Amino acid sequence: MPITYNKRLNQFHLCNDSLSYIIEIREHKYVTHVYYGKRIESFDHAGAYPDVARASFSPNPAGFEGTSLSLNTILQECPGTDTGDYREGLAEFTFADGTTAFNFTYDGYEIRKGKEPLPGLPSTYVEGDDEADTLVLSVSDTVRKVGAQLTYTIYRARPVVTRSVSYVNNGTAPVRLDKALSMCVDFDDADFDLLQMPGEWASEKQLKRDHLSNGVHVLESRRGASSVAQQPFMALMRPHADEFQGDVYGFHFVYSGNFRFVAQVDPFQQTRVLGGINPFNFGWRLEAGQRFQTPEMVMVYTDSGLNAMSQAFHDLYRRRLARGEYRDAQRPVLINNWETTYFDFDEERILALAKKAKAIGVEQFVLDDGWFGHRDDDHSSLGDWVTNERKLPHGLKHLAEAIEAEGLKFGLWFEPEMISEDSDLFRAHPDWHLHVPGYPSSKGRDQLILDFSRQEVRDEIFAQMTAILDEVPVSYIKWDMNRNMTEVGSAGRSAHDQLQTSHRYILGLYEFLDRLTKRYPHILFENCSGGAGRFDPGMSYYMPQSWTSDNTDSFERLRIQHATSMIFPPVMMCAQLSESPNDQVGRITSLSSRAAVSMSANFGIMMDLTRKSQAELDELATYISAYKEVRSLVQFGDFYRLLSPFDGNYGCWEFVDAVRTRGRLMFFQVLSHASKPWVRLRLRGLERGGTYEVAYAGSTRKERFSGAELMEYGLYLNHDLEGDFAAKVVDFSLVEGSF
Ligand code: DGJ
Repeated sequence: MPITYNKRLNQFHLCNDSLSYIIEIREHKYVTHVYYGKRIESFDHAGAYPDVARASFSPNPAGFEGTSLSLNTILQECPGTDTGDYREGLAEFTFADGTTAFNFTYDGYEIRKGKEPLPGLPSTYVEGDDEADTLVLSVSDTVRKVGAQLTYTIYRARPVVTRSVSYVNNGTAPVRLDKALSMCVDFDDADFDLLQMPGEWASEKQLKRDHLSNGVHVLESRRGASSVAQQPFMALMRPHADEFQGDVYGFHFVYSGNFRFVAQVDPFQQTRVLGGINPFNFGWRLEAGQRFQTPEMVMVYTDSGLNAMSQAFHDLYRRRLARGEYRDAQRPVLINNWETTYFDFDEERILALAKKAKAIGVEQFVLDDGWFGHRDDDHSSLGDWVTNERKLPHGLKHLAEAIEAEGLKFGLWFEPEMISEDSDLFRAHPDWHLHVPGYPSSKGRDQLILDFSRQEVRDEIFAQMTAILDEVPVSYIKWDMNRNMTEVGSAGRSAHDQLQTSHRYILGLYEFLDRLTKRYPHILFENCSGGAGRFDPGMSYYMPQSWTSDNTDSFERLRIQHATSMIFPPVMMCAQLSESPNDQVGRITSLSSRAAVSMSANFGIMMDLTRKSQAELDELATYISAYKEVRSLVQFGDFYRLLSPFDGNYGCWEFVDAVRTRGRLMFFQVLSHASKPWVRLRLRGLERGGTYEVAYAGSTRKERFSGAELMEYGLYLNHDLEGDFAAKVVDFSLVEGSF
């Protein structure tokens, strides 16, 4: 049983083959944290964290005067506010009298089989109750009359615990919930490195690892979206941990709006990790009896380094976060017209592109921005989802059918959450965007954000979209979102509920996506936000793949895809091969190396095929057909990072299928150097006793080695790579084995 309650020790032990998470209720009834780490089969310590007064500036809670107990020095699961723990707390309330002091103590527990969905929120799930078990701890402050249910789910066969909290007002007067985090873990030491993913537009997820020192370290978004600036992710790693060894604790928040992660090291060298919705611009009035449900935090623990953490996230997200028909289905090779045409296209140009695309093996056409209203640039028409008849005089349906007649499926770009001032929708509803009345609205890309916290606003956009989707054979939607929130006010909400707007917006977005994806289960959705501006687990629940970056330079992508793979599997990343010189950075790279980067995820093309020579088209066709041969391996195999482009001149990824019969190495050299050291690379995840045939793309060279030899000795890979930005592809397959 993965969750046990030890009555004698008053301890809860969540335990599976990989990890243990132990909580103890001591005499004082505060819910204390005992241990999170590698599995301990049976735990017999009781009250082990030394109960000794540590400092005179750490007050004792009422009723414990003169004892050694101070909330400031113990390890806790649900720390309160303004009651003697001077670290950051899990929650904050403003009570009817205007003060904030409260603390939770333990009331009771329940252990359930399985895992419940969170109402209105995306979350990881189970397909049978035997996959996971759930502990619910009830806590409250009986004087302040607020309470919470702390929910912990442990998966039986994954190194994963998920957390969420439901806060409740148990009193008769309203209270305001000012901060409602989903998780607190208190570690009893501070010997950690912190791994984070800061970024910017076209430069998403730049990995950074620093040793944790004293003080409060905050990773957050205040942009109304999870954002390009920071992924809702944090990992704490032991300093010696690397890709393949050492303790790693990964935390990833299943939410698409403002978030806050805190790693706080106190003077006792204890580390508190907190995460949840950002209290910035947040305040939730709870009437008597009302509850507030937080989104889910996913926690992965492994003693085997970052790669094991990533594989745990990959498998969980592929199988128990993503949903729908495409969850387990191979994804099509697509062409997107954006970088080829931008806004400048017509039916003829699109059809010419589609025809060429079909001839080289592309399966899906995606018509990007500019097909609606009178949109010729980014200054108009968002909110008017009707066909631009000047560009498409025979209508969208006609174009889609013509593309289908060419043998391609048809996909369409939308940016449903946005409104242009120059739109019929804005003229009809000048208060439907997020704004503060009487205060000037900031614009981003010359657009405003529709107030998706309001049902009537969502309903209007839903009606516009379904009018198209019910008529036009659309099999793919790229859902874009190109600016972040400012002046977050809603004309649909009274003054005392304005601070609910940014969270209600995200709830509204989820409600919309739920409706849309249920109504069109055959449509494959791509999540996009000017690249990866909202590539997070919340959106991935509704849309099984995301545009990884607007930066399509393959060698910038090497880093971006490498970092993205820390948490998302290749099948969730869209990687389109684009022109050289590259539109974003002007770099010139070979087609083969660009193809190798794109073929390491969901392969697509963003090129003007109508201007390519036959030789270039033939080369592209070769890559597409080669990709189709390895598509299931790349999209659904196990993924290993072997060399990091953040650490040196090379990057290397390995894909291995679930039964270890087939694999592929993608090796990248950033710059060419004279007299360079050779790189001998050890492979991973093979059958030690099996014999593998190793084949080098573009050469007839074939060799045979045992799995053990490939994993312990490996292969030399850089000696015959010439030129900057070069790639090598190596395939291996089991020819004899112990199976
Ligand atoms: C930003 C996206 O990331 C691009 O791929 C493209 O769809 C543009 N928006 C269109 O406006």
